[in-house]
Amino acid sequence: MQMRTLIHDISQFVGKTVTLQGWVDTKRDHGKLTFIDLRDRTGKLQCVGFQKMGELTTESVVELRGEVKERPERLVNAEQEFGAYELDVGKYEVLNQAGELPIPIDDDGLSIGEEVRLKYRYLDLRRERMQKIVRLRSRFTRAIREALYAEDFVEVETPMLTKSTKEGARDFVVPSRFYPGSFYALPQSPQQYKQLLMTAGLERYFQIAKCIRDEDLRADRGFEFTQIDLEMSFVDQTGVMELVEDFVKKAVKEVGGVLRDETFPVVNYLDAIKKYGEDRFDLRSDAEKEAGVLAFAWVVKFPFFKRVDKKDAAEVADGKSGWTFTHNPFSMPLPEYLEQHLAGKDLGDIVTTQYDLVCNGYEVGGGSIRAHKPEILQATFRAMGYSDKEITESIGHMLEAFKVGTPPHGGIALGLDRLVMLLAGESSLKEVIAFPMTSTGKTAVMLAPNQIEAKQLKELGLEVLG
Ligand code: AMO
Repeated sequence: MQMRTLIHDISQFVGKTVTLQGWVDTKRDHGKLTFIDLRDRTGKLQCVGFQKMGELTTESVVELRGEVKERPERLVNAEQEFGAYELDVGKYEVLNQAGELPIPIDDDGLSIGEEVRLKYRYLDLRRERMQKIVRLRSRFTRAIREALYAEDFVEVETPMLTKSTKEGARDFVVPSRFYPGSFYALPQSPQQYKQLLMTAGLERYFQIAKCIRDEDLRADRGFEFTQIDLEMSFVDQTGVMELVEDFVKKAVKEVGGVLRDETFPVVNYLDAIKKYGEDRFDLRSDAEKEAGVLAFAWVVKFPFFKRVDKKDAAEVADGKSGWTFTHNPFSMPLPEYLEQHLAGKDLGDIVTTQYDLVCNGYEVGGGSIRAHKPEILQATFRAMGYSDKEITESIGHMLEAFKVGTPPHGGIALGLDRLVMLLAGESSLKEVIAFPMTSTGKTAVMLAPNQIEAKQLKELGLEVLG
């Protein structure tokens, strides 16, 4: 293959012969002349073929060789970034011929049915709107990573095949071939492992973490989603909130996001309920909504416990006493409630160190200072009605870790998909995930869940009923 020139470098090659590679974006036939707009990752360029290229189809992948010319002033296309140049095509080769496309990709795609869009997601992603979003997500993730590295965080991966992680949703489970009848759970979050990394002396951990929860699907909720997950040792609530606010602001600005408040307002949970009727409120005026600003705010002073919602299977399982946690069972209560917490008295009044980050009416993050002493964590599970035996079975490993020198610690997880959704001005997570599921829980392009062979079931010691 010839050395490839990228379209955004084209101005440096006027009068020279170059090789371009990319997609046929549009094609116009004018008798003996064929005009195509060639598209690569850096831009579009008009390419002209004399008595050639007539058979090219749009979206085919081609290699074009020819001389770069400056277009005469009256022919400059001011609407295109590289509209002052064109390629006079001498030779070309079709690297991959495109047939008729199953979906159009020259518009925003929003009028196409979800199933078809996701079946052909690889094409759907080719449209300009989706290209922008995928790249925005990458830039935002990178800005966050860099901000966290600059603050001395260590990036660590935690297991995907694990034990139930107690985030309050149903688990997705994976059968074990080695231990027929036994199952792994996919992580609802890295919560326990990140705390154990504090025991391990990492002090500052982060991970761009895949989390998996079997919850009812909504526009802002997927089975599978990504967290910017972090944990820090030797910090208090203000310390974590300040650090998070700082890097969120930095990363948002880095990708061109506009903040409503340079200092995020902090609202008490009860005040939020009184004032806005909910704890994920939207502070923007209509004009601010129009302008696409991001209105972040913190919500603090949540109740630690709530009465179990009998319709919620995960809550019923966790809250054996009729009480379950509102956010995170691993949290520390506020210091003034510690005694009450340890005594398991007036559970409904105990306030936790939880802090949630909200933005434009969505919950975009949540975290807390953790119980790092065994008796506090034990008290939480006792309050939920766990017997000592059940506590040992469920979180005995955490209690043990809290007896070998675990520093005080706290952290947070931000919903990366939701943040990117807001930055991109979208209202569904599906628009900002490369290969999202349909709203009925089917995977993109290759359809899962699907049945597996009898042989595989047998190997796993499973039998499908009904
Ligand atoms: P939490 O459960 O609040 O906290 O999750 C943190 C953030 O993740 C996002 N999120 C989701 N995004 C898309 N789809 C979902 N199904 C979904 N569920 C949650 C939200 C939410 O604010 N371990 C704790 C964090 C901690 O305490 O450090 C946790 O997972 O934006």
